[in-house]
Amino acid sequence: MVPQRDRSLTLADGDLYFVQEPVGEMANLAYVIGSRATREAVLVDPAWDVESLVTRAQQDGMRVVGALATHYHQDHVGGQIFGLSIEGLPRLMELAPVPVHVHAHEAEGVRRVTGLSAGDFVVHQGGDVLELGGVRIRLLHTPGHTPGSQCFLVEEAGRPARLVSGDTLFLNGCGRVDLPGGDPEALYRSLHDVLKQLPDDTLVHPGHLYAEPVDSLGAQKRTNPYLRVATLEAFLGFLGY
Ligand SMILES: [Fe+2]
Repeated sequence: MVPQRDRSLTLADGDLYFVQEPVGEMANLAYVIGSRATREAVLVDPAWDVESLVTRAQQDGMRVVGALATHYHQDHVGGQIFGLSIEGLPRLMELAPVPVHVHAHEAEGVRRVTGLSAGDFVVHQGGDVLELGGVRIRLLHTPGHTPGSQCFLVEEAGRPARLVSGDTLFLNGCGRVDLPGGDPEALYRSLHDVLKQLPDDTLVHPGHLYAEPVDSLGAQKRTNPYLRVATLEAFLGFLGY
């Protein structure tokens, strides 16, 4: 088995600065995404080892200006679960206090599990865009795994976009819907009406390293059974509903 540390991925391609970092004991992937021109970066789902993410960014000359949460689960934002105390957004606030960008339907959940206060959050709707130099991060509302799950479409002119897909879309899998707030029909809509509509050359970066670290969306449309399935009824049957 390849050690997790060796599966870290760093791209400095055009203006985009992009780090995909395996963290923690649940195969999570955290991200650092920024602009090489402005030297500004945001952390996606900073948890488990926040200091190493911040240090990585700073050693590369990047200034952390925000955090983005895909959803409220403790392995992504920090908190207590399964007898574990996972560091996350509160640790980031100690190291580098920055605004935390959450979807409106997820703000309460993130606040509850992290203990942050409402003033720490910037609350978004789907379609909102963050701009870092020539890099645009489009916030896509993709409910189903949780009500306010969001994916981040990282765009730079002239290059394939990268989709940071959280626990909504995994490589050859999708997020669970049996946890509080899970909604199988909403997940089907998010996968088929939102994510599957993106171009085939979009690169998918999931929230957990369960298989390969990245794949094209086109390949996932061909191989991922949860994207291949043609109807809501078949999708629900697939999930055992
Ligand atoms: Fe999750």
